[in-house]
Amino acid sequence: MSGTMILGSQWGDEGKGKITDYFAKKADVIVRFQGGTNAGHTIVVKDEKFKFHLLPSGVLHPEKKSIIGNGVVVDPRVLIDEIESLGKKGISPNLFVSERANVIMPYHKMMDVVEEKLRGKKIGTTKRGIGPCYSDKISRYGIRMMDLTDEKLLEEKLSQIIPIKQKIFQAFGEDTVLSKDEILKEYLEYGKKLKKYVADTSLIIAQAFDDKKNVLLEGAQGTLLDIDHGTYPYTTSSSTVAGGGCTGSGISPLKIKEIIGVVKAYTTRVGEGPLPTELKDETGQHIRDRGGEYGTTTGRPRRCGWLDMVVVNYACRLNGFTFLAVTKIDVLSGIKKLKICKAYRYEDKIITVFPANINVLKKCVPIYEEMDGWEDIKDWKEIIKNGYNVLPENMKKYLEYISSSSKVPIGIVSVGPGREETIDLKR
Ligand code: GDP
Ligand code: IMO
Ligand code: MG
Repeated sequence: MSGTMILGSQWGDEGKGKITDYFAKKADVIVRFQGGTNAGHTIVVKDEKFKFHLLPSGVLHPEKKSIIGNGVVVDPRVLIDEIESLGKKGISPNLFVSERANVIMPYHKMMDVVEEKLRGKKIGTTKRGIGPCYSDKISRYGIRMMDLTDEKLLEEKLSQIIPIKQKIFQAFGEDTVLSKDEILKEYLEYGKKLKKYVADTSLIIAQAFDDKKNVLLEGAQGTLLDIDHGTYPYTTSSSTVAGGGCTGSGISPLKIKEIIGVVKAYTTRVGEGPLPTELKDETGQHIRDRGGEYGTTTGRPRRCGWLDMVVVNYACRLNGFTFLAVTKIDVLSGIKKLKICKAYRYEDKIITVFPANINVLKKCVPIYEEMDGWEDIKDWKEIIKNGYNVLPENMKKYLEYISSSSKVPIGIVSVGPGREETIDLKR
């Protein structure tokens, strides 16, 4: 029996979907525990590409249970679309959605757009209604999945909420008119379609642990987007760190045996906010093109930069990673000189602890360790077959630097998007 968590250690898009799919083969239950349709997790199986926003990345193993936990904010329309599009491919997920998960409503998506418009400093959100939905959850105005299957309750809640939202839109100078009846009708319809999936998912997971099953928890976003510990206010609105895995799925921290930190071999970020190692030059563009660094959810170009160990080490401290899965190292192949940020210079000080003050972070200048790169690799097949030892020497030095700086062992090296393009050091 074991609980394993897979978490992003940077600003998201580290390859959590791929790594979750890889570990899903050993799991019985796969759980998403936070975030919502802001996430975009890509999995490549043979020649087919799957992109999931809500469904856990274990869903391609339909014999396993897939769970959307209470900490997720669910857009029911998108969930239905994802289930239906999998159905067209002959995959019928064994899915359970927490009755306690909060629901993204039309006014959340509208408010996400309005807030961005009126805000002085834009966050660059995905405009999927994530922040407004989590705000309502905390304000106790939220609609939960179980409400969609209870007409009387949903009607009561909407009667209370809609006039308040209407006033807020008016105060913002928006002429949006919210129709309670239309929203009620639409969301009851979603409730009908999703009823069979709605369940007490914390109980299902507890039963799985009792039955000595393996439970895999799939994080969305990344540690630096965490609402408490990330680059606030340039963060998402959920708890993306290990602690959030327990509250977002309703399990005890004592059940978690492994916490895998997914580390992209360089850094990317979508949206606004400081990114100390950002490369605004042709190397940055080269990494973006080679790594296909364009958002899975919004298609926006991802900002790219050198690997930042101040960031990764901070993520290791917050999450207590038991090992790291380093992804996309293949993308750096052929670059003659590589840099890894080992500290920041802030005014006349050298700092290695990630600062909380966003204005300090903006002024931090990276101090780099320079390393020689390795030749471009045309044929990975032989290398993958023979494992870590046959990797180019300079690639091993790069990986060893990550491990010695973070004091966390590397368990996985991912060298391509496919399932088989994975070197498993723990096997
Ligand atoms: P996630 O949000 O953390 O699941 O990551 P995304 O799916 O948004 O972005 C990662 C992208 O990189 C996807 O297109 C993956 O298919 C791809 N990918 C994952 N691992 C590797 C790798 O090791 N090498 C390369 N070249 N691509 C990878
Ligand atoms: P995955 O799970 C990268 C970013 C947005 C924005 C900020 C707030 O694929 O790694 P939000 O819509 O959450 O209120 O936006 O967070 N963001 C992500 N960046 N990967 C993600 O998810 C992200 N989810 C949100 O770009 O800067
Ligand atoms: Mg993504």
